[in-house]
Amino acid sequence: MTALAKLLRTTAFRLTLVYLLVFALFAAFLLGYFALNTRRMINDQIVRTVDSEIVDLTNIFERVGLRGLMIAVDARAGNPGSSLYLVTTANGDGLAGNVGSLEPGVIDRTGWVEAAYRRIEQTDQADHMALVHVVQMPGGFRLLVGRDLDERERLFRIVAIAGRWSVAIVIVLGLTGGFFVSRRVLRRIEAMGDKAHTIMSGDLSGRLPIAGTGDELDRLAANLNAMLGRIESLMRGLKEVSDNVAHDLRTPLTRLRNRCEAALRTAKSDRDYRDAIEATIEESDGLIHIFDALLMIARAESGELRAGMIPFDAAEIARDVGELYEPVADEKGLTLRVDAATPAPVTGNRELIGQALANLLDNAIKYTGAAADRVNGVAPEIVVTAQAQPNQILLSVGDRGPGIPAAERQRAVERFVRLEQSRTEPGSGLGLSLASAVARLHGGELRLEDNAPGLKALLILPRADATRGAS
Ligand SMILES: Nc1ncnc2c1ncn2[C@@H]1O[C@H](COP(=O)(O)OP(=O)(O)OP(=O)(O)O)[C@@H](O)[C@H]1O
Ligand SMILES: [Mg+2]
Repeated sequence: MTALAKLLRTTAFRLTLVYLLVFALFAAFLLGYFALNTRRMINDQIVRTVDSEIVDLTNIFERVGLRGLMIAVDARAGNPGSSLYLVTTANGDGLAGNVGSLEPGVIDRTGWVEAAYRRIEQTDQADHMALVHVVQMPGGFRLLVGRDLDERERLFRIVAIAGRWSVAIVIVLGLTGGFFVSRRVLRRIEAMGDKAHTIMSGDLSGRLPIAGTGDELDRLAANLNAMLGRIESLMRGLKEVSDNVAHDLRTPLTRLRNRCEAALRTAKSDRDYRDAIEATIEESDGLIHIFDALLMIARAESGELRAGMIPFDAAEIARDVGELYEPVADEKGLTLRVDAATPAPVTGNRELIGQALANLLDNAIKYTGAAADRVNGVAPEIVVTAQAQPNQILLSVGDRGPGIPAAERQRAVERFVRLEQSRTEPGSGLGLSLASAVARLHGGELRLEDNAPGLKALLILPRADATRGAS
């Protein structure tokens, strides 16, 4: 497609054409209306003055007879101007006036008519047009009074020419304006198109150009840029996940493989084989656990679960999870206290929020460890709470373990991240990632705070029956 054809197909140019048509019609209508009205006004004026002259002349005829009329008519006919007078006999023979010849039949009929005529002293041979009124006088005489229409026609022509010009100017200006506007729009669209191509060819960091005018194209570009930003961050997340998966699953898989190989090489008895297979199953369970966690994070992050959210009481979940983990805490000599008596209404996915809270509690129990300081021999307490605030629900798990240094808190939430201090404990570094993804899915957040000493993990969720305006 040629550049011009492209230009002509733009919406801007088509709109210009529509406006052009509207303006041209409007201009034509306006001038036409003006011309016709002017013509009518001139006619009205002629009719008024001619009629009053006829009244005058009729009076003269009645008062002083034909002779007086002829003198008066000749006197008026002698004045310069566009006035026409003619007095004839009943047969149409001219007696006085300045009309030389008339279209045949005009003088025979009384009333108003537009007719061609020539003056007596006229030098050229051209016919002129006049608006004349013929009346019959007593005795069969006829009196014609009229006005030349040259002036009216000239005025009409001037308006017609002005009309043609203004329509032509509207069209030329409109087309040029449309051409430039469309070219500008087309250039911006093409710049966006070019950028889109580079983005599609792999440069996800590219963004569509914004002219800064704040017009609809800018707004569109800004929205598309926001979308590109989101796509870019999703792609980055995806890449990170696949990198992590490749990297972090390789170690346990290699371990699995080596264990099998060693068993094949060194096992002597059924017992040895059995041990090797059991170890393999354990390792595989770990892998399955990692995959499950990854899948759950992916589901939470995709937002696909947002559709099936239901209202429920998060305090109930806190009590359930606390009950579930009580034996584990007991086993480690830790006290677990659940403080979740008042209802904490949230709308969300029960299973995911339960899992997130379980992950936090699992960490608290795991990292508080038996080696943790015992305050006066009292077992360090782990406290699970569910609190309802006007706009949000706080689910928290506080422990008295080593805590996480402030500088590491952000990193600890990333996938597969395990801090140096906890390498001795089993785990894959996905627990906090899931809790954080679940919080974000529900429009909330996961916050890690200092419990002085220990860690306080807060799952902040929007309250389902939030009282708007209150804080
Ligand atoms: N309560 C806590 N006290 C001290 N350190 C913690 C606590 N919770 C988490 N951490 C640190 O944050 C890291 C990430 O925690 P996360 O729950 O994501 O993974 P994990 O517990 O190592 O493994 P997983 O939960 O997948 O079994 C942990 O490895 C640990 O170093
Ligand atoms: Mg964990």
